[in-house]
Order: sequence, then C-alpha cells, then structure tokens
Amino acid sequence: MSKLDKEIQSSLTDIERSKNLLELESIRIKYFGKNGIINSEMRKLSTLSIEEKKEAGKKLNNFKEVFNNKVLQKKVFFESEEINQKIKNEFLDPTLPIRSNLGVIDEGKVHLITQTIEEIVSILGKMGLSFQEGPDIEDDFHNFTALNIPKDHPARQMHDTFYIQNTGKTENVLRTHTSPVQIRSMKKGEIPLKIFAPGRTYRCDSDITHTPMFHQVEGLVVDKNINFANLKWFITNFCKIFFKNEELKLRFRPSFFPFTEPSAEVDVNCTHEKGKVILGKGTDWMEIMGCGMVHPNVFKASGFLDNITGFAFGMGIERLAMLKYGASDLRDFFNNDIRWLKHFGFSYLNLPDLNWD
Ligand code: PHE
Repeated sequence: MSKLDKEIQSSLTDIERSKNLLELESIRIKYFGKNGIINSEMRKLSTLSIEEKKEAGKKLNNFKEVFNNKVLQKKVFFESEEINQKIKNEFLDPTLPIRSNLGVIDEGKVHLITQTIEEIVSILGKMGLSFQEGPDIEDDFHNFTALNIPKDHPARQMHDTFYIQNTGKTENVLRTHTSPVQIRSMKKGEIPLKIFAPGRTYRCDSDITHTPMFHQVEGLVVDKNINFANLKWFITNFCKIFFKNEELKLRFRPSFFPFTEPSAEVDVNCTHEKGKVILGKGTDWMEIMGCGMVHPNVFKASGFLDNITGFAFGMGIERLAMLKYGASDLRDFFNNDIRWLKHFGFSYLNLPDLNWD
C-alpha cells in the first residue's frame, strides 16, 4: 500500500473517531491544510511522468471528494446532536417576568393608535357591526365616483388626493377616506348590512392638525326603515361608551357630504382648562365626526335598488385618541419619539375596558 493510500485510510478512520466539531476541524487541517499531506502530494506531482501524473491526480481528486463528503456528514451529525442536546437541557418559559440587570423593566408598548382602534373595534363589535377592510390603494370609482363625487365635481377639491401614476384604464389613488369600503360592502348586495371599517387614509396635507397619513373608521348600517333617529342613537351611545362619560352631550350640526343626505357633523360638548380640552363639561363644542343618511345615488352605484335606507358615519381616529387621552400634537403620533411612545403607550396586557354592562 502506498503512503497516500495509508493516509487516505487513516484520514477516514480519524473522521470516524472524531468526537466533536473542533476535532473534526483539526483533522481537516491535518490533511487539507497548508502543510497537510494533500498539499505535499500535490507538490510532488510535478516530478512525475505524464502517465503517473494522470493517475495520481485522479486519486487525489477522488480522495478530496470522499474526504469532504465524510467531513460534511460528520459535521451535520455533530450540529444536530448539539441542537438535540439543547432542546433536551434548556427549557424556555416565556411566562416568566422580565429580568433586567439595571432593575429597570424595559418593555414595549402598544401604540396609542393601535389601542384606540382596539377600543373602537370592541365597542362597534358589541353594538352589532362586523369588521371590514378595504385596500389603501383605491380606484377612482370606489373613492369618488360611486360616492356621488363625479369627475369635475367641486367636492373633489375637499380632498387633497395623492394620485398614483396611471398604468391602465383606471386612475388609482391612495384612499382619501374609509368611505370606499361602504361601496365594496354594499356591492355584495345583502341586507341587513352592518359594518365598520377602520384603516389608514391619506391626504396631501401636513401641518399641526394634519398628517399625510392618518386613520379613520367608517360605519354603515343598511336595512329596511333605517332612519336618522337610529343614526343619532347609535352615535350618541358609541360616544358615551368610548369616552366613558354618560353626561356627554352631542350636537348634530347640518353639513354637506356628497354621499349622504341629509348630512351632519357631530360635535361633543367640552371646556378648555389650562390649555387642555375636557370633554362632557362646559359649553364649547368640538367636532368629532361626519355622518348622514346614505344618498340614493350611492345605493344606485353599488347596485342596491329600492326600499332600503341606511346611515353612515366616518371619524378620525387620531382626533378621538387625542381627546380621550390628552395628546395635544397630532404630529407626535408618527415621530417615533420613544419618550412619547412610552408616555402614551399601553401595556400589551391592557385590554380595552368598555364599561359596557
Ligand atoms: N368620508 C367623510 C370624510 O372623510 C366622513 C363621512 C363618512 C361622512 C360617512 C359621512 C358619512 O370626511
């Protein structure tokens, strides 16, 4: 047996006998490292005749392949063994309280908007509406036309729209309100229809009271004989529960929306004390939402026919959160200032408490 053959044999036994990854690596270096047997055999090749060179080259290459495969197999074996040991010996209990070297517990918080949406979802859910979603990128039909806002209608100027570069026949926009979800839900053609749809909305506007992205929640109730009194009852009760204030007074002020007739804006009574707004007290008024009876043209555009009526409302979620929790600057919501997030954030265990019963 040649020296090389012996080395090949012993290398394979070495691999077989190795006890861990470290040993395996030193075996690899012993044979294939800079000063390893393979390198010295390679160097010898130049002294051989062409025939011998062919033969020895082939042998070396073969060896390389067999050796590498064996090492790889053994490596996979050690690695999975390590994992199995870990699974066996280490137990992770995710219910343990957080430990901190500094004695400070640094836990994440639920964003004020998330918390407020969850509260709204709970209340509207209990009031019998079901959750719906619509796309942030809307087409012109759902965002405007079907909502009785035809092209060139001055009401389009009420919305500072972000248009999306036109690729096909339809013009797409970032939805300027959640009202398009009304159309998407009505197109299913079933009554009674009782839905709400929270989500992001976009307008090309940025100052103390406007951010280009904000949140709204839309509500829609359609059935036979729905009337304005139903709307008033629904919104009054929603607000009392949301603001946890039985004394809250609401004012329905006539207004205009193309997709509702009659339309109203809803104000809550409030007073200003030391620069803060206090709700449910005093004689000032603060606007919180738009609402009205669904316009017949909206029913028509959604394929709904006669004999039904409905009410709809839409409110700004940031505005509701600011009033309920006393945040004063809208822009803080999206600045990612950790101090603000900690102050206005909620513990993930703080589930919405409804005071419902
Ligand atoms: N979509 C309106 C807005 O964004 C709000 C609204 C919704 C008004 C539903 C009436 C009915 O201002």
